[in-house]
Amino acid sequence: MALVTTKEMFEKAYAGGYAIGAFNVNNMEIIQGITEAAKEENAPLILQVSAGARKYAKHNYLVKLVEAALLETDLPIALHLDHGDDFEICKACIDGGFTSVMIDGSKHSFEDNIALTKKVVDYAHERGVVVEGELGKLAGIEDDVNVSAEDATYTKPEEVEEFVSRTGVDSLAIAIGTSHGAFKFKPGQKPELRFDILEEIERRLPNFPIVLHGASSVSKEYVDIINKSGGKLDDAIGIPEEMLRKAASMAVCKINIDSDLRLAFTAGVREHMINNVADFDPRAYLKPAREYIKDLVKHKIVNVLGCSGAAK
Ligand code: G3H
Ligand code: 13P
Ligand code: ZN
Repeated sequence: MALVTTKEMFEKAYAGGYAIGAFNVNNMEIIQGITEAAKEENAPLILQVSAGARKYAKHNYLVKLVEAALLETDLPIALHLDHGDDFEICKACIDGGFTSVMIDGSKHSFEDNIALTKKVVDYAHERGVVVEGELGKLAGIEDDVNVSAEDATYTKPEEVEEFVSRTGVDSLAIAIGTSHGAFKFKPGQKPELRFDILEEIERRLPNFPIVLHGASSVSKEYVDIINKSGGKLDDAIGIPEEMLRKAASMAVCKINIDSDLRLAFTAGVREHMINNVADFDPRAYLKPAREYIKDLVKHKIVNVLGCSGAAK
């Protein structure tokens, strides 16, 4: 099977009350762990690549690794640009084999966000590629952009219809209290998401796929392993899984996960190295890291996203 767009995946996810996992990929072992889990669960997948991942691994390596995963799994897989910052990076990914791109104009004014997003949509749609836009600003760190909790803003529901109709985007990322990274809430703060905003957006945009960024749950299992060998994750707090399940049963069709992959991968490496300090064969510690990724993704598919068996 060739790479697919997210169009059909989202239609089915919306109707079925589940979400598709959008997992950030940076190297071969992460791609293998994710896709092996999805194959065993027969789940559709979005593999997403950030600007940082493109810089680290190089565009062609990532595209070819994802193509290899297609050959191995025969699953519906979309290859997506995560947080495209400008028209040029979106164009490079559209021209370079991606089937979906995000143009993240959330740091611009409403009008500038619309103009930039529409320019990407026009270019993408002519080439059969779908586009995710963003309204509202998440807190946290992506690449070099660090948005403080004070600067984060919830999506304004009264803006979504105009944004979607004037840009022609295929999906919309919204801010309802999630944030990027492993420290999503202050210590002692009760994790809360603004489901009232999501409900209002759903009412205004019937049958339209919504995207949730910053949706890692930060499992204690990985935190404890990493902290055992010098990690500083005592105050790490993620999004409770039951909230993600609720979002997936609503209009949220795409749930973005990166930090949990980083934690699982690092826990796998560290657990191995703590017990085998003399090892110096990279395969010895990358293999358990890949297994940790696989276990994490299976858990997400079955217990959080609800998309097991949805690949047909
Ligand atoms: O939302 C951002 C993702 O976590 C990607 O992170 O830009 O460091 O690759 P990155
Ligand atoms: P997390 O940092 O919660 O994994 O979010 C990832 C993300 O939104 C990627 O775009
Ligand atoms: Zn994000």
